[in-house]
Amino acid sequence: MDVFVIEGGRRLNGRIRVNGSKNAALPLLAAGLLTDGDVMLRGVPDLSDIRNMERLLGELGAPCERSADGSVSLKVVDDSDSHARYDIVRTMRASICVLGPLVAKRGGARVSLPGGCAIGQRPVDLHLRGLEALGARIELEGGDIIAKAPESGRLVGATVFLGGPFGSTVLGTANVMSAAVLADGVTVIESAACEPEIVDLAKMLTAMGARIEGAGSPRITITGVESLGGVDHRVIPDRIEAGTYMCAAAITGGELTLEDCPLDAMMAATDALHHIGVRVDAVGSSDDPMRREVVVTGSGELSSVQLTTQPHPGFPTDLQAQFMALLTLANGNSVITEKIFPERFLHVAELCRMGASIHRQGATAVVTGVEKLTGAPVMASDLRASAGLVIAALAARGTTVVNRVYHIDRGYESLETKLAEVGAMIRRETAESVEGAAV
Ligand code: EPZ
Repeated sequence: MDVFVIEGGRRLNGRIRVNGSKNAALPLLAAGLLTDGDVMLRGVPDLSDIRNMERLLGELGAPCERSADGSVSLKVVDDSDSHARYDIVRTMRASICVLGPLVAKRGGARVSLPGGCAIGQRPVDLHLRGLEALGARIELEGGDIIAKAPESGRLVGATVFLGGPFGSTVLGTANVMSAAVLADGVTVIESAACEPEIVDLAKMLTAMGARIEGAGSPRITITGVESLGGVDHRVIPDRIEAGTYMCAAAITGGELTLEDCPLDAMMAATDALHHIGVRVDAVGSSDDPMRREVVVTGSGELSSVQLTTQPHPGFPTDLQAQFMALLTLANGNSVITEKIFPERFLHVAELCRMGASIHRQGATAVVTGVEKLTGAPVMASDLRASAGLVIAALAARGTTVVNRVYHIDRGYESLETKLAEVGAMIRRETAESVEGAAV
């Protein structure tokens, strides 16, 4: 198992290009199952989650080919096997994205039911309710979801409400929208997720011939078509990766220029940074609001804020841990409330091992800014929690060893290389070679 060894206290300075979005690319790849045509996706990050999705699509008869320029092509060559097996689904919950496309295109699917994970319970009831509303018959057998289209072989358009106790569901909206594009008639998704990843999926499906209106708003209307064609689509940049590097610049009092920054999708994060005392300025001449050049300048003085995670366009849960790390060094008390995944606080205890002062009660954490953090061996528990630990380590005095960085590899391509290129002292080692690392 690999670890990161980080010597803190270096001011970051330089340029980082933001990658294509993992959370956009996963449902886009799955949507490749909806056509017999050629699918080309550009700007797909090279991450373990993406490789797992490529492996899954290969098993479902759609082999994927990755080129050195970050594009992935795929084409369905065999539609006889529609079983997403447990050994892939358990490594990556986003495997559930294949359910909608498979039922819609092949008339049936068997997808292992994802279990809980480090950030909470994560049910998929809304995905299933949505597909049932389109006429799918759903059963559970041996830990698998078995979904079948109606006798006619085609799903039927319907009005579907996707609001749950914590707002809408991003992948649930992706699943139902992907299924509805081939259904007979009109589907209205009410309380749809408004995340930019959903807008990107709608854009790709539309380019394939789907008829979708309202993506990015809480009501999406889809008029089913008989078939979809191939597509050549560029994935949007990763707003969470961009936000993570913004926090890295801020906590080191550094200055980073981010290229291909999806600023338009980051208002809640940049507004929070503004209140914390971090400048975020769009520069350059790009007129694509999702691919701006942005300079992030940390002043060295950080102010406390109140943050509440919410569905988009609210503050994203996927940046909660990184901002918490940043706020450990802010003046005063910050209050962070997690309204999407109330249990998503595994980083709290690890940050406290580095000297942070954080008091958690239920879904709220009060972060009292301290003068300094000190390096320590810490344990990565999930993708974003681990990114938070790296951010804290960049500012901590001394050496931090972040164990289990395979969590980070799920969502950040070459994190250590990108940070080292802008001045961080960070290196990847095997746990066996580092004293005090968890082997
Ligand atoms: C997506 O997960 C992202 N994953 C997550 O990013 C992200 O944290 C999450 O959206 C919220 O923004 C991908 O896109 C691959 P949800 P998803 O369904 O779609 C509840 C990362 O770090 N819910 O929008 O699975 C659920 O428990 C990952 O990159 C139900 O109650 O999340 C949660 O409280 C982690 N029933 C809330 O809704 C359901 O059927 C939102 O979850 C589905 C969800």
